[in-house]
Amino acid sequence: MSEEPKATLGILGSGRGSNFAAIRDAIASGRLSASIAVVISDREDARILELARQANIPTVVLRRGKFRTRLEPDIEEELAECLRRFRVDLVILAGFLRVLKGPLLAAYAGRILNIHPSLLPAFKGKDAWKQALAAGVAEAGCTVHWVEAEVDSGPILGQARVPVLPGDTPESLHARIQEAEHRLYPEVIQQVIDRKLWQQIHS
Ligand code: GAR
Repeated sequence: MSEEPKATLGILGSGRGSNFAAIRDAIASGRLSASIAVVISDREDARILELARQANIPTVVLRRGKFRTRLEPDIEEELAECLRRFRVDLVILAGFLRVLKGPLLAAYAGRILNIHPSLLPAFKGKDAWKQALAAGVAEAGCTVHWVEAEVDSGPILGQARVPVLPGDTPESLHARIQEAEHRLYPEVIQQVIDRKLWQQIHS
């Protein structure tokens, strides 16, 4: 039997869940010493939930609330409570398209990671790969960073670069960036676990 997982993850996503799948596979193959306690989404039809159910991982759907781009404070409180109930050490944002504000950031300060599809600080915000194409840059990529109050701005933990090729469409570039994301995110999570970085931030 393999050794005990070193960290318990809670994964939040709104979409297709390909980063969730990469993390799940990294755990299954022993490249990532963690377990996934829960997958949480703000969208009941998100494919990430279906993938989690197929993997027998508990799923939670957040109350809808009245905002589209953020969560109401009481829903964020419920989210924090849910993560505590599942004894989550590290919160992994994997395509979670809501901005997190006070309650969750306070409850999980220094324990929330995000992956963003650009070489931050370039191209913050929505559809970063489209911004990169429009800007005509030769290189794009992805960034894993700590989540802080200001969007896409927390300390950077790792980046991966991909070329922008002649004839790239938004779809082809995003697909290339996502391949890089699937390698980078599990690697960086493992580094955070190995170095116990979240505990250092907390203590
Ligand atoms: C990923 O490309 C991720 O970088 C992006 O959403 C996608 C989710 O894909 N996140 C952001 O743009 C956050 N600002 P997935 O559901 O297949 O993992």
